[in-house]
Parts: sequence; C-alpha cells; structure tokens
Amino acid sequence: MPDINDAASKCISVINAYQQPSGAYPASPNFTPYEYCWIRDGSFIADAMSRAGQIESTERFFNWCAELIVKRRDRILQGGLLDTRYTYDGQETNEDWGNFQLDGYGTLLWAIKQHAIRHDRSIDQYQEAAGLIQHYLASHWHEPCFDWWEERRAVHAASLACIYAGLAAYGHPEAAAVQAEINLSEERTDSSLLICALFDATNGQTIIPVISAIEEKLVSEDGGVYRYKDDSYFGGGEWPVLTCMLGWYYLKTNRYDAARDKLNWSLSLMQPNGWIAEQSSKHLLHPDSYQEWENKWGRPANPLLWSEAMVLTLISLLSST
Ligand code: BGC
Repeated sequence: MPDINDAASKCISVINAYQQPSGAYPASPNFTPYEYCWIRDGSFIADAMSRAGQIESTERFFNWCAELIVKRRDRILQGGLLDTRYTYDGQETNEDWGNFQLDGYGTLLWAIKQHAIRHDRSIDQYQEAAGLIQHYLASHWHEPCFDWWEERRAVHAASLACIYAGLAAYGHPEAAAVQAEINLSEERTDSSLLICALFDATNGQTIIPVISAIEEKLVSEDGGVYRYKDDSYFGGGEWPVLTCMLGWYYLKTNRYDAARDKLNWSLSLMQPNGWIAEQSSKHLLHPDSYQEWENKWGRPANPLLWSEAMVLTLISLLSST
C-alpha cells in the first residue's frame, strides 16, 4: 500500500493527466460511457484539487463550468433545464440519460465558495455563472430529479443537501426552505445520505440512525461501503468514493482511527500507477448481475477521477488534523 504522501501525489497526477485542455474532468478517461464530464463528479474533483493546493487545475474546471452556464443564460432564465454531464467541449450529449440532476450544481457553488475562502482567491470571474446557478436551483429545487446514482426520480435528501450547501454558501434566501424539506426518516438506506452530514444539512435531525443503518447494512466485511442494498450495477461492489465519505464523517466526529481505516481500505484498491476504480469487485452484493455489465461495457471504470478525488480529500482532511 502506498504511503499517504505518495498516494496523494498519485491522485493529483492522475487527475492532472486526464483533465482536458478545456478544463473538463472526465468521469473516467477510458470507460466509454464515462468519457464525459459530470458536474457532480467534477465539482468534488475540483474541491479535492483545491484542498491539495492545485489552484490552476481547480480554476480551469470552474472556468469551463462558468462558460458553459453563461452560454445557457437564456435557457436558464426561461425556466429550461440543464444536463448533468457534458462533452469535454461543453456540449450536451444527446443520449438517453437521466439528465435532470440538481445536486452537482449545488456542489459546484459550494466548491467555488470553499476554494475562494481557502485560498483567498477572487471569484469575480464566476459571478454571472454563480448568479445563474442560484436562480436555476432556487427555481427547480422542489421538482423531482434523478438521484446521485441516476436511477430514481424524486426529491432526494442527498440532492437537497447539495443544493442547500450551494445556496447557503452564497447566502441565498431560498437555502432555508431547501434544508427544511430534508426528511431523513423517509429515505431508503443509501450511502449518498452521508453528504447530509458532511454538508451540515440535516435540518436539525440526528444523522446517527442513518449512519448506523449504513454501517450495519452497507459496509462489507473488509470495510468498503456499498451504495444501497439492491445495487446490481456491476454486481454491486463497494465504492471508494463512499468509503472515503464515511471516513470524512468519522473525522468530523473525531474518530481518527476509523477514518484512517476507511482511507486504508480505499488505498488497498490503488494500483501502482495510482489508478483507483469506481468500485471493487471482491465482495459483490449481487454477483449474478456482474457479467451482464461486463458484457455490455467491459470492466468497471478505472480510473474513476471521483475516486481519486475522494481519496485525496480524505488524505487532505487527515493531514490537517
Ligand atoms: C454514477 C454517478 C456518477 C457517474 C459518473 C454513475 O454510474 O451513478 O454518480 O456521476 O457514474 O462517474
């Protein structure tokens, strides 16, 4: 297993190596269905690069987003919807996909603001785009949209948490109404709910039962974290993204050893060249469903830049404690 500094450098190198000249971060550079830039993945990647001091890479991504948003100004102001992923040159993909997902735009606003605070950087150049995104989220947040996993259309707590984080970061008055709609007791046990704790978006409810349910039902014998119990995508393996988010939660609650364990599990998937896949295939929830996906799309995405990013984020958080 690489040491922590070596692992961080590898994550940064992998992300830098695949960031496109346009500034877009591919979800995965060599897994055909993921050869696009998702606003959700990209925003977490930019946040990780910002934490790691990679200011140029971070701002190249924000610039790419800002240009893409401003180009769609009329559509946004007329009440139209935005896609969740784009080609590297910022075009819609014109494929059948669960494209209406709001969380990424909230996370993007949050990441821009965090970056400005962290590095005392001016973000004036994103002002118009940030204003449009706030308008977009404030207009549509109550509409059912696809979840993080692009499967179920509803008003999801995890999506609301991201929208809340973005609007709150900019002091938008609608933030409170968004947070007030978060009802953790109505959600299925799904590890994306971790973001409610990480973004302090629990609406005064305790997150503890949610965390306990995740720990009980969605953590494998090795410590990796699944998305949800019925997950059959590539057989339903554990995701480094979610394992690191659980580690982040442990750090927030001062459980350093538990956080380090989550990092170690994630690093056990890192290949010598620094690649970290989207998911592990060692302890599949539904092994019978693996092969149909491999026949369709090949092996699971590897590297997944969001995996690299969450490992980098957890390392940054651990290093600053
Ligand atoms: C995941 C999304 C992710 C996308 C690109 C999908 O399989 O469900 O959360 O944004 O891959 O990484």
